[in-house]
Amino acid sequence: MIEQIAEFPTLTIIRHPLVQHKLTILRNRETPTKIFKELVDEIAMLMAYEATIDLTVEPLDVDTPLERTAGRHISGKKLTLVPILRAGLGMVEGILRLVPAARVGHIGLYRDHKTLLPVDYYFKVPGDVAERDFFLLDPMLATGGSAAAAVDSLKRVGATRIRFLCIVAAPEGVRRLADTHPDIQIYCAALDRELNTHGYILPGLGDAGDRLFGTR
Ligand code: PRP
Ligand code: URA
Repeated sequence: MIEQIAEFPTLTIIRHPLVQHKLTILRNRETPTKIFKELVDEIAMLMAYEATIDLTVEPLDVDTPLERTAGRHISGKKLTLVPILRAGLGMVEGILRLVPAARVGHIGLYRDHKTLLPVDYYFKVPGDVAERDFFLLDPMLATGGSAAAAVDSLKRVGATRIRFLCIVAAPEGVRRLADTHPDIQIYCAALDRELNTHGYILPGLGDAGDRLFGTR
């Protein structure tokens, strides 16, 4: 169950009832760290189900205990998950349960609290970049600065097929990522109203990294 909005052609909102139910608990300020972490994991897994809907499959014969039959497997382009540290880490395990053969890269970025500009501190992705499908993961798309910088870094090393999975997106971030990288499909569970003056998403869910790791 997905929604697409004419104003944001690169955005797909995943409206599945399970995702929306879990997102509502995630937003609740009373939800403790342990449950928050479990919910991010589950939402990411459910979102990945939709975000992988157009992966190409190739025929593959399989021997059952009784006879040979035609099957299918996900073809060629190897899947690579790239969480943006820290909060993106919370989305990795859930997706790996669906696609256990996926590789995992990491991009370290944090937002400077005053300027809101991304500061990068780590980059590591598997080799043979040109042959891979990248799923960039971060629960929050706020100003879009971190997402755009992460896509810049992936493209710089030769990545061409990149999707961005977040849980909550702000219109400002969707617009920024669409302007800088119109080829990137964005998936989210909610498109929220706006950013506040500190760059936090309203209504949002607060600071995703802090809530995931219990640092505030
Ligand atoms: C948060 C979030 C995104 C970024 C989004 O990370 O996880 O990476 O902010 O904001 P933007 O769209 O305005 O760039 P943060 O910078 O707080 O780093 P952390 O995960 O290390 O706490
Ligand atoms: N980063 C977060 O973790 N939350 C926001 O609302 C904005 C950026």
